[in-house]
Amino acid sequence: MQSSVSPSQPRKYKVQLDVPFSDQKPGTSGLRKSVKQFQSPNYLESFIEATLVTLPGVQGGTLVLGGDGRYGNLHAIDVILRMCAAHGLKKIITTVDGILSTPAASHLIRKNNAIGAIILSASHNSGGPDGDFGVKINGPNGGPGLESLTNRIYDATKTLKEFNIIEFPPLSLNSIGNFGIGSMEVQVIDGVEDYINLMQNIFDFDQISSFISSDFLIAFDALNAVTGPYAKRLFEDLLGAPAGTVRNGIPLEDFGGCHPDPNLTYAKDLADLLLSGNHYSFGAACDGDGDRNMILGRKCFVNPSDSLAVLTANANYVPAYSAGLSGVARSMPTSAAVDVVAKNLGISCYETPTGWKFFGNLLDSDQITLCGEESFGTGSSHVREKDGLWAVLFWLQILAAKKCSVSEVMANHWSRFGRHYYSRHDYEAISSEIAHDLYRNLESKLPSLIGRSFGGSNISHTDNFSYHDPVDNSITEGQGLRILLNDGSRVILRLSGTGTKGATLRVYLERYVAPNGVLQQDPQKALSDLITDIDSLAQITSRTGMKAPTVIT
Ligand code: G1P
Ligand code: ZN
Repeated sequence: MQSSVSPSQPRKYKVQLDVPFSDQKPGTSGLRKSVKQFQSPNYLESFIEATLVTLPGVQGGTLVLGGDGRYGNLHAIDVILRMCAAHGLKKIITTVDGILSTPAASHLIRKNNAIGAIILSASHNSGGPDGDFGVKINGPNGGPGLESLTNRIYDATKTLKEFNIIEFPPLSLNSIGNFGIGSMEVQVIDGVEDYINLMQNIFDFDQISSFISSDFLIAFDALNAVTGPYAKRLFEDLLGAPAGTVRNGIPLEDFGGCHPDPNLTYAKDLADLLLSGNHYSFGAACDGDGDRNMILGRKCFVNPSDSLAVLTANANYVPAYSAGLSGVARSMPTSAAVDVVAKNLGISCYETPTGWKFFGNLLDSDQITLCGEESFGTGSSHVREKDGLWAVLFWLQILAAKKCSVSEVMANHWSRFGRHYYSRHDYEAISSEIAHDLYRNLESKLPSLIGRSFGGSNISHTDNFSYHDPVDNSITEGQGLRILLNDGSRVILRLSGTGTKGATLRVYLERYVAPNGVLQQDPQKALSDLITDIDSLAQITSRTGMKAPTVIT
């Protein structure tokens, strides 16, 4: 333990805000902007001030603080610590080198009865001086702050005149220790350990370990982001995988120039390794802050919607879930693969809007145990965030219990439940005006489409999805344009809420084939009718000028 830094008597002072905080509404994931924007004078400080005057329980409370290691992480931790001291927090729990994954932060909030966390991350967005930065506020249940909280923080930014900060030399975060800033305690902990203990309480590590030592070679790509230290501890130190199993395992400020998003485009090296069919049996990757996951087998990519369905169908193999699941939930654009499994298991299945926060009430009230999104997010009631490494361990547990390959798991799953061919097409960095015009244009056509022939079937229903939360009875409207067909197929269009450059249009395509009709077919082929028809209906190519999506998943 390091001794306390000798405190030169901290001085609290006020600074006039010279950049008005206007038109910077935080999104569903907090404030996510370019690093350049965050570097403008008092920008970070203003948002933190607004947060600390808004967040319930600040006086005398405990707060968790850390981030994904991207450019700006340590500077932001220094500023936030000094501002927290000025605002009367009792204790801050932060981590060695400021490294803390989003699911690990969620766990620390819950374990320490903290009032919440400030997580410094722009998730899967690129990092470095020319990349993005973000500040995410989580609440006392461990989950992302609800919209009502982010709205109140935003309102506070609009009237902000000053912020409160204490002058104090930066603390050394390179090892564990306890410090004081004024009367506030700062505890620097190992950000990995508590999370590993949690995983050991959920999974049977001995079973996984003996399976992966039996000629089942795994590769994990941390994409130079936060999961490296967690994955090394889990896979190499505890489960006995050979050194080198974890690739790109040291968190770098610019993620080594990579885009830390685990999909077939941005985790291409890993995808090539597995899909080329060489000697690796299992591959996985996580995103910048560790909440997303991609699962690959030899010559096999697991679609995230299918992944949720497979975890649900095989949860009995995991000690923590062996007594059964209370229910499951998926976001609306996620395929209905998990619905079929839930029906078979006789448990409830909820359809929520995009965004993890919508699972919070269902998890808190124990209506669901597992949940997931098509965007490479899967999680359970163990935390209130999606959890990348948890999903990887879950898959390894299933494979170890069944003693089979990823592609065998998939083939068995489809032959039992049928297959939901599924793909998401993203059109990134479109001008905002073009994207919104396209969206509004399609929305205006929706009522007239019923009965029309589309994608090899007929349109049975169209709407802009709205959600009634069964726990707090809130209604959330305008969550995406849905075109549902008679044969169970669906096409959905949404505009991203997390992009930072222009607008991103997401087109989700889905077609269900019952067990007796399942073919091993490329999803893009199976969905080709839907792809052609949505392009001409929504005029995607002609309006955006893009001949193909930026990312196809
Ligand atoms: C994206 C995903 C969504 C996820 C969010 C945060 O949001 O689509 O499922 O919850 O990132 O990771 P979008 O950019 O689509 O609004
Ligand atoms: Zn993330």
